[in-house]
Amino acid sequence: MPKVLIADSLSPRAVDIFRTRGIEVDVKTGLKPDDIKAIIGGYDGLAVRSATKVTAEIIAAAPGLKVIGRAGIGVDTVDVAAATQAGIVVMNTPFGNSITTAEHAIAMMFALARQIPQADRSTQAGKWEKSKFMGVEVTGKTLGIIGCGNIGAIVADRALGLRMKVVAFDPFLTVERAKALGVEKVELDDLLARADFITLHTPLTNDTRDILNAAAFAKMKPGVRIINCARGGLIVEADLKAALEAGQVAAAALDVFPVEPAKDNILFGLENIVVTPHLGAATTEAQENVALQIAEQMSDFLLDGAVTNA
Ligand code: MLT
Repeated sequence: MPKVLIADSLSPRAVDIFRTRGIEVDVKTGLKPDDIKAIIGGYDGLAVRSATKVTAEIIAAAPGLKVIGRAGIGVDTVDVAAATQAGIVVMNTPFGNSITTAEHAIAMMFALARQIPQADRSTQAGKWEKSKFMGVEVTGKTLGIIGCGNIGAIVADRALGLRMKVVAFDPFLTVERAKALGVEKVELDDLLARADFITLHTPLTNDTRDILNAAAFAKMKPGVRIINCARGGLIVEADLKAALEAGQVAAAALDVFPVEPAKDNILFGLENIVVTPHLGAATTEAQENVALQIAEQMSDFLLDGAVTNA
């Protein structure tokens, strides 16, 4: 009977699926890397969310490991090269939390447009600063989406429903798909020059790292608002700080940071930022979806050799 270790907190229904499918499963969360290294040799599968970093050292200590399942989209918490070298399949759940992440980006957009977190803090502090929190409408504004894959496409759909104009930069977006989505496919510089709001929905790769840097901020419309619910390394934080302080960027909403957990970030304390602790996938629905999907996919692989989303 194959044996799986669930090393991060996943919906209990994942355990039910593994057991129903005839797979032995242990749930051991909060383990230190050395603790995982000490026990991983006894498992065929390892299921993680985002807390556990599956390093080359852990992989080297796992001669029997056949599959690593990431209950989420990004596999940047897994050393995929080391896993591949060791013949271990790495799979993710590319669709399970797309809606939830897109909704978080839209929530962040409204938080910026109406300064809701700042107004909340001020009102609860006993101030009644009605004139301080003048907002902007999103209706009729242009939303620039950088990365128009699963999540970006859902953001586009919701934004169009809000009567925004949507322009998208994504080298993988075909003109036909853009047309079907109702968005205008543009080059990055065009997007930067035209967007009132910019939202990032691309993975972090060598091509996208630091995509929003000082040169990019200089090309943007003064007063642009920026949302990042994708990956921290997409934005050069020092350059964003300068752009926020200069007023070139009116406000930014960030769910992700180059270093997480982000406890001491250079942007913290600025008046015009809104931050959340990587909550993009944090809804009951999304966590249920990704847990079920990863349990099914890993079971299919361990029992029948079927590879999905690897
Ligand atoms: C993901 O890669 O799926 C997201 O960053 C959300 C997460 O799992 O925390």
